Amino acid sequence: MTYGDILFRPMSIDDAADFNRLVGVVARERRYLRFIDAPSMDGTVNFLRDSLAAGNPHLAAVVDGELVGWCDVCRHSFEIEAHVGRLGIGLAQEFRGKGLGKALLDMTLAAAERLNFQRIELTAFSDNRRAIALYETRGFVHEGVMRAAARFGDEYRDIVLMARLASSLSDKGTSAVD
Ligand SMILES: CC(C)(COP(=O)(O)OP(=O)(O)OC[C@H]1O[C@@H](n2cnc3c(N)ncnc32)[C@H](O)[C@@H]1OP(=O)(O)O)[C@@H](O)C(=O)NCCC(=O)NCCS
Repeated sequence: MTYGDILFRPMSIDDAADFNRLVGVVARERRYLRFIDAPSMDGTVNFLRDSLAAGNPHLAAVVDGELVGWCDVCRHSFEIEAHVGRLGIGLAQEFRGKGLGKALLDMTLAAAERLNFQRIELTAFSDNRRAIALYETRGFVHEGVMRAAARFGDEYRDIVLMARLASSLSDKGTSAVD
């Protein structure tokens, strides 16, 4: 699917090097992700290969053949959490604030719905207002704050936990245990 000059398509293992590079660029901004540099290339290849083999949705946003964004939902590995996926998203700086994140997120959520993810959760730094505003418009609800959970040098930052439940789960879950 195209959106302006952007092509949205599923990722393949052939995207591993570009994915690793883009994640590294965003990580080094030290504002948005929980790591501060690219993972190792082997780590990215193994992650992407295993996650694609598990059937998880990984979408790529591509401009002129260059990867400029990703969005994925990775299913939890424990059997009792297999209805749950963790969402990740990121765009190269020059492509933010133009509606691309919304489009990429919507496509990924639609794919996750088809794959029967019932709960999609994510974390964001509490000052990442754009990401949080986007998640809120897509039905993600704040579930809590992990205070001072990240430290970048001398700066401590809170991490918010958000989740979006399929309608089949709206009356499920135990909020208290004896
Ligand atoms: C988060 C991210 C994917 C959002 O994508 P985007 O293309 O920049 O966002 P969009 O242009 O689609 O805007 C989405 C919504 O965010 C809100 N928004 C946009 N700019 C905003 C700003 N500066 N402050 C607060 N909210 C803002 C709006 O509600 C907007 O919806 P609207 O256009 O209907 O008003 C992108 O900014 C990004 O990659 N950021 C760096 C990496 C990152 O933060 N990843 C997520 C980690 S949790």
